[in-house]
Amino acid sequence: MTQDELKQAVARAAMQYVPAGTIIGVGTGSTTNYFIDELGAAKGLIRGAVASSQATAARLARHGIEVVDLNDVVELPICVDGADEIDPGLSMIKGGGGALTREKIVAAVARTFICIADASKRVETLGHCALPVEVIPMARGYVERELRAMGFEPSLRGRFVTDNGNLILDVLCQRIEQPGELEAQINGIVGVVTNGLFARRGADMALIGGPDGVTVLQRSQ
Ligand code: A5P
Repeated sequence: MTQDELKQAVARAAMQYVPAGTIIGVGTGSTTNYFIDELGAAKGLIRGAVASSQATAARLARHGIEVVDLNDVVELPICVDGADEIDPGLSMIKGGGGALTREKIVAAVARTFICIADASKRVETLGHCALPVEVIPMARGYVERELRAMGFEPSLRGRFVTDNGNLILDVLCQRIEQPGELEAQINGIVGVVTNGLFARRGADMALIGGPDGVTVLQRSQ
């Protein structure tokens, strides 16, 4: 199976967890795009969706799915989203596509976070890929200095601007032994909107697509 076929398989598998007639949270990225296409094919299954990015909102709308403002919703039964890396405790690095802040907000409201990913995203310890940090533009230099003082080497993601009008610093961390601590520490720098570690609120369930099919992982209590 190709990587795209694996992404499609996990997207399809996630459909069984979508409660009919509800408003759900939808993440961002190529795997999530397959999930949106599945939602589109299941016409009328959900009442609407809260999008974690402008790209997701546009794709949902193209499928005729109502895009709902998060402020008009008190609770989301689930959110379905991809990941750049996921560890055995279901902590993740996200934000490869730069949508980390809205993804984290949607995840915070959702009762159950379902991560969909192909097996290449599974790691023992987070940190193989760069950790994205969303930064208010005027604070970029200050945040860079603070990250360097913590021993990291941040690099500005080119001319990329997030949906929130901010910048992304990518930080190579190598091995993230304590993801919850690092998440809080980086978020504590003034000018940081949030970082791509999803450890304090990780996934509740992960559907991982590999050559032998879809494996379901549950977060241990
Ligand atoms: C978007 O900003 C990211 O958090 C994505 O969820 C993550 O990068 C996974 O994307 P893919 O499904 O395209 O690998």
